[in-house]
Amino acid sequence: MDKKLKIITYGCQMNVADSERMSARLQSIGYAPTDVIDDADLILINTCSVRESAEEKILGKIGEIKRLKLQKPSLIFGVTGCMAQKDGDSLMRRAPHIDFVLGTGRQMELVNIVQKLESFHQKIVEVDGVSDPIVEDAFAPRGARSTFIPIMYGCNNFCTYCIVPYVRGRERSRQPEDIVREVRAAVENGAVEITLLGQNVNSYGKDHRRATFAQLLKEVAAVDGLRRIRFMTSHPKDLSDELIEVMASNEKICEHLHLPVQYGADRVLQRMNRGYTVARYRRLVEKLRAEVPSIALTTDLIVGFPGETESDFERTLEFVREMRFDAAYTFIYSQRSGTPAATFDDQIDDRIKHERLERLMAVQNEISREINERLTGKEFEVLVEGASRTDEKIFNGRTRTNKLVLFTHGEERAGDFIRVRITQPQTWLLRAERIC
Ligand code: SAH
Ligand code: SF4
Ligand code: F3S
Repeated sequence: MDKKLKIITYGCQMNVADSERMSARLQSIGYAPTDVIDDADLILINTCSVRESAEEKILGKIGEIKRLKLQKPSLIFGVTGCMAQKDGDSLMRRAPHIDFVLGTGRQMELVNIVQKLESFHQKIVEVDGVSDPIVEDAFAPRGARSTFIPIMYGCNNFCTYCIVPYVRGRERSRQPEDIVREVRAAVENGAVEITLLGQNVNSYGKDHRRATFAQLLKEVAAVDGLRRIRFMTSHPKDLSDELIEVMASNEKICEHLHLPVQYGADRVLQRMNRGYTVARYRRLVEKLRAEVPSIALTTDLIVGFPGETESDFERTLEFVREMRFDAAYTFIYSQRSGTPAATFDDQIDDRIKHERLERLMAVQNEISREINERLTGKEFEVLVEGASRTDEKIFNGRTRTNKLVLFTHGEERAGDFIRVRITQPQTWLLRAERIC
């Protein structure tokens, strides 16, 4: 009988991709994925440390597993990912029902560790090698129509608020031929859309100098059968003209760019160590919109960074109004110990942070709604994703511009391309009817 595996994933797409790879590795030693956590013989929680709120939620989840461990003592319970990397054995001291802690740099040890634990009960912590050279494995995504492909690991940017460079190590790019081979394998297995992933995809290749990100995109786009290419996340300081040209001239590359600006005042951008000014960001957006007129632009913004004044914040509101992003992910600054900004002595009061977040979201939501409302009656190609979470008669999918579209389900299946007409746009999604 197959052993059962449940992986619970938090955090960014990189973690989703890591979970897929861990699942594939574990399937090769007889574990079958299950949705029913009570049935699992092996549970992994793949964690994120980017904000304190994420960590609190995850600690709650880790606590919940204790009950299952008591019911089924043979259950193996592992914690992986960024929090595992950051907290190591202190996680295990806090939650002794954890059997193993596996950091981001040692995923190739996963099978080994699970096999050890299957043969006898012990505690294992593996958190070395966070910046070690990439070990390629023979993973080929199975059957998914849309799939994530990591092209590089780590980050060299050290934005002063951010924990990622500490938990994901230095930038390491995969070899272009390994990436292209994986894209080809994914397409042979049915993929029509791929998303190339990295903390900072547009600095791809700066380490091995075998290809720039723009060159890699061209090679990937040459793979027959692939219909849509996405990538994230891009850093404004590395957005080259070459990349904008490739986006403009290659029809497989979707007209969407997630380009986190983080803030709209130079003084704060500088303290964040972002490496660009508001004026530079504005020029990039102008160029992008000139070269790719239908592009949808999304961003990330942080409020309540240490030392933020009311006037900095108002500038940011003004900049957001000027940029007219299609959508923005807005975050309250979270103090991450070990990062430079955590030691800045001008931390902002929680009440002010929340109040600013509300104001920022109100401005952005209005813009998102206005942009979407203009799409009423327009037609789009949608890649169908599947049934919506709340109603199985409603299916969702994405436009090339990465907008979420909801429509009444008929004959279509996940992975189909259909055409829709927008009937009722909302702030975060578009309701539509199928036209063919
Ligand atoms: N590499 C990507 C994304 C990293 S994390 C990039 O550079 O854009 C995703 C988002 O989380 C960031 O864009 C940032 O807006 C937010 N973030 C990171 N650290 C944070 C912190 N300490 N507090 C609040 N938000 C944070
Ligand atoms: Fe974090 Fe900055 Fe790196 Fe993004 S670029 S992962 S925000 S340090
Ligand atoms: Fe979180 Fe790690 Fe991603 S900290 S955002 S899961 S790289």
